[in-house]
Amino acid sequence: MADRLRDCIVIAQRTNQGALEGLGRSLPRLIFMAAVTAFVVSVAEAAEQATATPPGKKLYEARCIRCHKDLDPTIYDDMTWKRWLWKMKDKARLDNEEYGDLSDYLKGVREAAKSKKTR
Ligand code: HEC
Repeated sequence: MADRLRDCIVIAQRTNQGALEGLGRSLPRLIFMAAVTAFVVSVAEAAEQATATPPGKKLYEARCIRCHKDLDPTIYDDMTWKRWLWKMKDKARLDNEEYGDLSDYLKGVREAAKSKKTR
């Protein structure tokens, strides 16, 4: 799906180049093609975001599940998690960026669980 869309983008971009050469004659066409290109690009980006695994989830599975078989991110509150994650930072050999991605991911999981409970 995403590959097909990328082909569409390439075609749209090539068409844009052709339109540029005859700019005086075909300005409306150029604008139309630019709009088509922008639309196709945004659809392709949305498709990619929907399928991509968040980096924090990958880290969690690769670095934490190794020692904790199925650790549920929702069993501790935010403060407790923060303390544990800080303790585990060295054990899991996380650099600062990975630490940030992981805290964001775990926070997201906790918040999703919380909003499910209150509903
Ligand atoms: C090298 C093995 C190892 C790795 C990797 C590791 N931990 Fe731990 N973890 C431990 C051990 C051992 C404890 C026991 C408590 C202590 O160290 O004081 C623990 C305790 C914990 C606890 C509190 C106790 C519990 O089981 O609920 C949490 C929460 C936790 N780890 C989360 C994580 C997270 C999140 C990661 C990934 C970033 C991670 N750990 C990576 C070994 C590991």
